[in-house]
Amino acid sequence: MESKLLKGLNEQYNFEIESGYIYISMAHHVKEKGMDGFAHFFYKQAHEEFEHAEKLRNFLFEIDEKPVLEGIKKPQEDFGNFTETFKTALEHEKEVTKRINKLVDLSVEENDHRVTSLLQWYVDEQVEEEDNFRTIIEKLERINEAWAGLYLYDSELGRR
Ligand code: FEO
Repeated sequence: MESKLLKGLNEQYNFEIESGYIYISMAHHVKEKGMDGFAHFFYKQAHEEFEHAEKLRNFLFEIDEKPVLEGIKKPQEDFGNFTETFKTALEHEKEVTKRINKLVDLSVEENDHRVTSLLQWYVDEQVEEEDNFRTIIEKLERINEAWAGLYLYDSELGRR
């Protein structure tokens, strides 16, 4: 992998997988507290992250670059209460957005239209991802960790 941009894409491929790991760990965290609906949400989120990774992997192969897997950091196990867990997820998504934006800048600098075009999909996806988490956090803040509200919302997110 020659350019800084391609190395960055490979890094993002690994980071999407790492994101999936983090969401699986969040799923475990909430499932252990009896919230199967929240867990379902996070498992689905993890699945989406693996799809984001696959899209990058397929692109690298298409441009004749072999993706390289790196070591994945052990995810955090305890994410605090439910609101805190989703807030940590939003912070993670903001980090993903920052990384995607840096890659877009780099693709423009390197004048690589193929990559700029690919990354546009991720830019749009990040708007949606951050919005989803913000909406959930807003509801959780109103529920204020009260069990009655949590149980109702758990069953709603379980239908995601
Ligand atoms: Fe792949 Fe949630 O960003």
